[in-house]
Amino acid sequence: MSGAATISRVCVIGAGVMGAGIAAQVANAGVPVLLLDVVRDPADRSAVARGAVERMLKTDPAPFMSKAAARLVETGNIEDDLAKVADCDWIIEAIVERLDLKQALYAKIEDHRHEGAIVSSNTSSIPLDRLVEGRSEGFRRNFLITHFFNPPRYMRLIELVSGTGSDPAQVARIADFADRALGKSVVRAKDTPGFIANRIGTFWIQAAMNAAFDLGVSVEEADAIAGRPMGVPKTGVFGLADLVGIDLLPHLKASLLATLPEDDPYRAIARDEGLIGRMIADGFTGRKGKGGFYRLSADGQRRKE
Ligand code: NAI
Repeated sequence: MSGAATISRVCVIGAGVMGAGIAAQVANAGVPVLLLDVVRDPADRSAVARGAVERMLKTDPAPFMSKAAARLVETGNIEDDLAKVADCDWIIEAIVERLDLKQALYAKIEDHRHEGAIVSSNTSSIPLDRLVEGRSEGFRRNFLITHFFNPPRYMRLIELVSGTGSDPAQVARIADFADRALGKSVVRAKDTPGFIANRIGTFWIQAAMNAAFDLGVSVEEADAIAGRPMGVPKTGVFGLADLVGIDLLPHLKASLLATLPEDDPYRAIARDEGLIGRMIADGFTGRKGKGGFYRLSADGQRRKE
């Protein structure tokens, strides 16, 4: 592969569950990363991204990122540091699953990215065609969906989605980097709602949760059945929801309902008991919050409090 085609610096935008893990993987591969998030603490404007790096250094059972790799991660915030994406060959968007916020971010990235830079979204469910609405032809040529799986440190898979206008050379460039540098198997998916994994996964999670509620089965009992016996080691359905983030579930549901065909069977099961909304309002967003269906923290350990 020629020098011009290699990826020598990556920017990850969104330092949450997925962005932090993706940034750590890229840094572990020896490639410098710029990790950006929003400002929450005006006194310390890169606190969110820096906190994410610290989490990656601590995570059990072993630190996910080596100390040497952590030195390759520059942290910052979107308000002050977006212009720095000009130095990056691949800009990975991993912000909250909302079309409006993602589109607004791409409009800003378009002003700063260099001409050959690839921009990709880690979206779980939003079709590529919707994401690039309003963007220039040059942006569309270099835009892809690279859907990493949670947790990025263990899941050796990326769904790669290209659009009708995507440059095949850029698609090949990312597929090669994901395989060679990040050790991921790349599965090419069509630009359809939920792609492959979440088209199946969201249906399965919703159906299993409905059955548990209807039958009055406990969280533990449901996961004992919907866990290892159904090929989901360790977490089961409710545990998976905690790992993914309870707050992601309504966004996922909304984006699928907005894009699936009218006769899709998911519509019949996508019901809402109000429980998920109450959990989010009370901060029970899963492992990243105060806990979720289980009292586990981000590293999978039982909470002490
Ligand atoms: P998260 O909620 O854990 O993190 C999102 C981060 O983005 C937060 O730190 C937030 O402050 C930041 N953010 C929000 N708006 C921003 C903006 N305009 N500029 C910069 N930063 C901004 O979300 P999570 O779970 O990491 O999801 C991120 C993306 O990855 C979503 O599109 C989601 O659908 C997708 N995804 C999530 C998976 C999961 O298991 N959680 C799995 C695969 C994909």
